[in-house]
Amino acid sequence: MINNAIPLRIAGVGYSVPSTVVTNDDLTKLYDTSDEWIYSRTGIKERRLVSGNENAVTLGAEAAGKALEKSGLKVEDIDMVICASSAPPELYPAIACRIQAHLGIPNDVPAFDITAACSGLIYALSIARGFIASGMYKSILLVATDNNSRLLNWEDRSASILFGDGAGAVVVTASEDGVDDIISIDIRANGSIGDLIRLPLAGKNCPLVEPNDEHPQFIEMNGKEVYKFVARVLPHYVEDMITKAGMKAEDIDYLIPHQANLRIIQAVQERLGYSDEKVVTNIKYYGNTSAASIPLAMAEGVEKGKVKLGSTAVLCGFGAGMTWGGAIVRLREGIV
Ligand code: ACO
Repeated sequence: MINNAIPLRIAGVGYSVPSTVVTNDDLTKLYDTSDEWIYSRTGIKERRLVSGNENAVTLGAEAAGKALEKSGLKVEDIDMVICASSAPPELYPAIACRIQAHLGIPNDVPAFDITAACSGLIYALSIARGFIASGMYKSILLVATDNNSRLLNWEDRSASILFGDGAGAVVVTASEDGVDDIISIDIRANGSIGDLIRLPLAGKNCPLVEPNDEHPQFIEMNGKEVYKFVARVLPHYVEDMITKAGMKAEDIDYLIPHQANLRIIQAVQERLGYSDEKVVTNIKYYGNTSAASIPLAMAEGVEKGKVKLGSTAVLCGFGAGMTWGGAIVRLREGIV
């Protein structure tokens, strides 16, 4: 961190999920699968999917509105909007610009999207921290939102069982009491294994030149290799992050991980020696909601009484890129 850095306060958190529930049993109408197969390998029973014209913008705007309300800040207080998305309804305008307009955030504040897949919220938090620490901006709205279901191949039973749609949002602001709610944060990427999860854009070269290889525009995933990579890297990574922060696993109250596969979450849990009470999981009901999954687990965990505020949590995520990241944060009273 830079000297004289301005500390950051997590002021408000919110989430939004579509109301339409699609269960594992429902998926048996699409292809040869079973609730038993899906649940035993992933921990997922059902997911929420956008229906009709719902999309990542509508979900994101709702989550952002709730986070803003909790933060006690007004739309005029927001100096920047950063949106993390990897399955957006449009590549541009940025979702952040759409949400700025939707919420009536002043028309001249910067708004942009980042693509770090399921690590997106941690990447966005890290970027926001830099801007706040330097004094350049005071209050930043972070939104993590994806409509994965619209970009899945619903004939590909190994990928389409995993994902759901949803949004989470976090409002961060310069801390006025000198306490930094980010105890530690770290982001990583390894582009050399980028092909493990990809969403190619459909597109054709100009007819006057050599044709390009064309790809259908669907999420493609080598599930087995993703699983092996994450199970090898993530548990050590989270443990090291805690050590580097000068803390012990028992100093932290909750593990709030990206909800991609219950078995991966359990590998991190085992490494840290945490009881089930300390680990926040909602994958059973939402599947993998990509960037939204960490703020969704955090906000819902508080709402349901699983996460008590006035606590500390370690957040960790991984996703396409491959990217991964983690943060140790303070969860103050009143953020949800
Ligand atoms: N129902 C029934 N059978 C299935 C299904 C299904 N839904 N999907 C695959 N199978 C079959 C396959 O056809 C295969 O059959 P075969 O042996 O006769 O060929 C068999 O089950 C095993 O298939 P695998 O793909 O090897 O299954 P695996 O045990 O690896 O489980 C899974 C697949 C659940 C996807 C697992 O690999 C996984 O969870 N990986 C991690 C995925 C992940 O975390 N992704 C994060 C994405 S984050 C982001 O950035 C987008």
